[in-house]
Amino acid sequence: MKPVIYVTRKIPESLLEPYQDQFAFRMWEKADEPVPRDVLLKEVNDAEGLLCLLTEQIDRELLDHAEKLKIVANMAVGFDNVDVAAAEEKGVTVTNTPDVLTATTADLTFALLMATARRIVEASEYIKKDAWENWSPYLLAGADVHQKTIGIVGMGRIGQAVASRAKGFDMNVLYHARSRKPDAEQELGAVYKEFDELLAEADFVVCLVPLTDETANLFDREAFGKMKRSAVFVNVSRGGTVDENALYDALTDGTIRAAGLDVFKGEPISADHQLVKLANVVALPHIGSASEETRSKMLKLCLDNLAAVFNGKDPLTPVNNG
Ligand code: DGY
Repeated sequence: MKPVIYVTRKIPESLLEPYQDQFAFRMWEKADEPVPRDVLLKEVNDAEGLLCLLTEQIDRELLDHAEKLKIVANMAVGFDNVDVAAAEEKGVTVTNTPDVLTATTADLTFALLMATARRIVEASEYIKKDAWENWSPYLLAGADVHQKTIGIVGMGRIGQAVASRAKGFDMNVLYHARSRKPDAEQELGAVYKEFDELLAEADFVVCLVPLTDETANLFDREAFGKMKRSAVFVNVSRGGTVDENALYDALTDGTIRAAGLDVFKGEPISADHQLVKLANVVALPHIGSASEETRSKMLKLCLDNLAAVFNGKDPLTPVNNG
């Protein structure tokens, strides 16, 4: 009997094909809609492996329904949707998808930073709504990026890849992280700062920390208050790292200049969301790693993690010792 693997979203058959001999796949058949919770709870009942997305909460309740489960292969580098401690207690391995998405996510982070600074979306909308009548000196003038100071909060792989892009723009790179990164300091000239110092000195504050109990609402009223009035805040981590009401106030009362947001607290958000309505916000629907190539690599890494575990090998990218 092949182990049953439940896949929580419709993914290309061509990706599953090389693993068909080994696994009995069952899949939620919708590509753009998450599996309803009650269906998921039923499906995991006899599943030995789960390939899931950040749209699923893999919590204790679900793990209690999944007595045969050996591995949760989460298609994201972030795993705040998984109760890793509960999984570990139950001997379930949890894996994520680091590395394969680093460059793609860093590209998007930099694109969002630039789009926010140079008001690219607003400028494009300006033409589309037929508002362009004259050229004028300060029409849609934004902020320069080159030779400014970027402050990266969370200097993991993606943070370092963003720093290397920033060097190409002659930026001064500051970072804050739980531990010092000697390689980034030597190779990229990144300078370590305490959190408050970074907030006070950076022209661009970029949030790339994982969401944990310690980083929840890290960017609160006090944090925005410490930033420059000209600062641009960019978040490509998780919405939970930000107090969104405090950010709204900071953006509307001139505490900071603008924000580029790829992530929000309760995703998906609608056009009615208070932050989306602001002209000084560029909002994206959580597309940090969304290139066709990278999304396929992430799925393949999930499948390779499943294959490794069922072949008695170590998973390639574990986040616990299931
Ligand atoms: C991740 O991998 O954690 C992203 O947020 C989704 O690509």
